[in-house]
Amino acid sequence: MSDDSVVGSGEDPPYVPDFDISKPAIARVYDATLGGKDNFAVDREGAATMAKYVPGIRKASLDNRSGLVKGVRYVARQGVDQFLDIGAGLPTMENTHQAAQAVNPDARVVYVDNDPIVLAHGRALLARDESTLIATADLRDPPSILNHPDVQKMIDFDRPVGLMIVGLLMHFHPDERPGDWIRALIDACPSGSYLHITDFANTGYPEQEGMEKSCLEALGNGWIRTPEQIEAHFQGLPLVPPGLDYPTRWFPEEPDKEVPAVEDLEPWQRIIMAGVAYKE
Ligand SMILES: C[S@@+](CC[C@H](N)C(=O)[O-])C[C@H]1O[C@@H](n2cnc3c(N)ncnc32)[C@H](O)[C@@H]1O
Repeated sequence: MSDDSVVGSGEDPPYVPDFDISKPAIARVYDATLGGKDNFAVDREGAATMAKYVPGIRKASLDNRSGLVKGVRYVARQGVDQFLDIGAGLPTMENTHQAAQAVNPDARVVYVDNDPIVLAHGRALLARDESTLIATADLRDPPSILNHPDVQKMIDFDRPVGLMIVGLLMHFHPDERPGDWIRALIDACPSGSYLHITDFANTGYPEQEGMEKSCLEALGNGWIRTPEQIEAHFQGLPLVPPGLDYPTRWFPEEPDKEVPAVEDLEPWQRIIMAGVAYKE
């Protein structure tokens, strides 16, 4: 990790998760697919399983990061200066706070993750940036996020929030009703806020089925969704143009840009879909 500007506040998190390195963990497997070093052998095996089904897995992960950065830049340029990034992952290239602060140096970010290794990496670094914190809390328990002392300290819920659930929803089966958690979170954000989501696409391409198979084999979770199912997670909020699309075709800052046809994309470019919605 090269970024030394992120740190937890040192306050006790309200949620205390398991820490098990005998099984692959989402954060570390994802880090391994991105070519990071914050992972164990069991995670690298998980990443290798994914590569068996999705040869372009690394590029697909990078594609998700591209969806993350484009969305953050767009939301920051709309004047939002506080971000709640749920399912933060391990620090990697251009993280949310860097993308946001490149637009507005005063932007504040609270990263939330339920894997304590993410917090450990943050806390292992020296605080240089008072405007970025990492909190351990769980998407499945919205009050663990909304009532977390670091979230309370950093995010003013009377002002617009950039709520991010990027690269995370695919890990929950529809029966878990992830929409209920999202509803609780977006309800806590005032009008003028944005909801930024990326998820695994299901538009009938074989690589998408491969992605689901690979996740289920490597992690035991990771499901693909039709664009309609992904859109339902925006809770009826209007999507900003160009709506939901593959990151290669998704330019919220240039919605009229000419983009390649879906059938001309490489298979790894059809794994992820990204969208940003606005709370009026
Ligand atoms: C695939 S990574 C995505 C990282 C980053 N958002 C991105 O898109 O590049 C998913 C992250 O979500 C975290 N996560 C998994 N389940 C979670 C939960 N229930 N609550 C909060 N974070 C969770 C994992 O630990 C992991 O760091």
